[in-house]
Amino acid sequence: MHLVKRPRRLRSSKNIRNLVRETILNPADFVKPYFVVPGHEIKEEISAMPGNYHFSIDQLLLELKRVSQLGLQSVILFGLPECKDSEGSSAWQKDGIVQQALRAIKAELPELYLITDLCLCQYTDHGHCGIIKNGEIVNDLTLERLGKIALSHARAGADMIAPSDMMDGRVAKIRTVLDQNSFNNIAIMAYSAKYQSAFYGPFREAAHSAPGQGDRSTYQMDPANSREALREIELDLAEGADIIMVKPALAYLDIIKQAAVKYNAPLAAYNVSGEYAMIKAAAEKGWLDEKKVVLESLTAIKRAGAKIIISYWADQAIKWLKQDR
Ligand code: PBG
Ligand code: ZN
Repeated sequence: MHLVKRPRRLRSSKNIRNLVRETILNPADFVKPYFVVPGHEIKEEISAMPGNYHFSIDQLLLELKRVSQLGLQSVILFGLPECKDSEGSSAWQKDGIVQQALRAIKAELPELYLITDLCLCQYTDHGHCGIIKNGEIVNDLTLERLGKIALSHARAGADMIAPSDMMDGRVAKIRTVLDQNSFNNIAIMAYSAKYQSAFYGPFREAAHSAPGQGDRSTYQMDPANSREALREIELDLAEGADIIMVKPALAYLDIIKQAAVKYNAPLAAYNVSGEYAMIKAAAEKGWLDEKKVVLESLTAIKRAGAKIIISYWADQAIKWLKQDR
């Protein structure tokens, strides 16, 4: 039969499929999150996130050596402090958990690119991402604290700071504080379009950061909105963000796509804990093929337009990609 257009021609062998493939995952695209806790010789699995652990610094160093050898180039650190208070003051201590971890990692693995999550929720006794006065999260007071935390991370050796609190004006505040202290080269990756999402459930168990009362809907974005995401991104870029982020990833591919088309800045997406837990659970039951589903999902995030993918599968994905090559 005479059919001028036959799309199957370009699918007919592995080589031609490889030749026309539009989206290819690279080891350098990935950032892996780590949870660091006080103490020694601790490596405790997080129950809702199998394969992820609470690490004390000594154990984290061993883990980071392993994943660096695999080809992972960058990680994002979350700290679980010894104690919490209403101000979250353990977040900016010189010898806080993240600050100690940064110094230890920089000393042993100077090549590894270190990003820190900047927020108060792991450090406040109420579990919110800002300072509370009279039952309200006070934006501008919180900015002062965020500035202090950013500076303490910079002094301890962070390469990039990633504010996840969703206060207004935080990127400008952090940029100003860093620049005033000659940390002009420390980059900011803003969690710009961060939604108020139930997909963060397993993370809150991992980070001990669930709010005691209420939810985060007065500061994180309404999942029903997309134009608002673009406004948030615009503000963060104007305030000096080097990289913008959409979070979560898989339920928000439309937002990733719009941001990728509209803004000419590096775009990251956070493949969050709930996205991880769902696939893990189904794979454990034998209902899904974990490797195939994960590589398909990560490819979808990149295809939508995110260059940087923050994922709990980062090291595993790199291994799988090497196997397939
Ligand atoms: C803290 C923070 C959260 C995540 C990253 N930073 C949780 C939250 O905002 O409640 C979520 C990460 C994940 O679910 O994997 N602000
Ligand atoms: Zn927070």
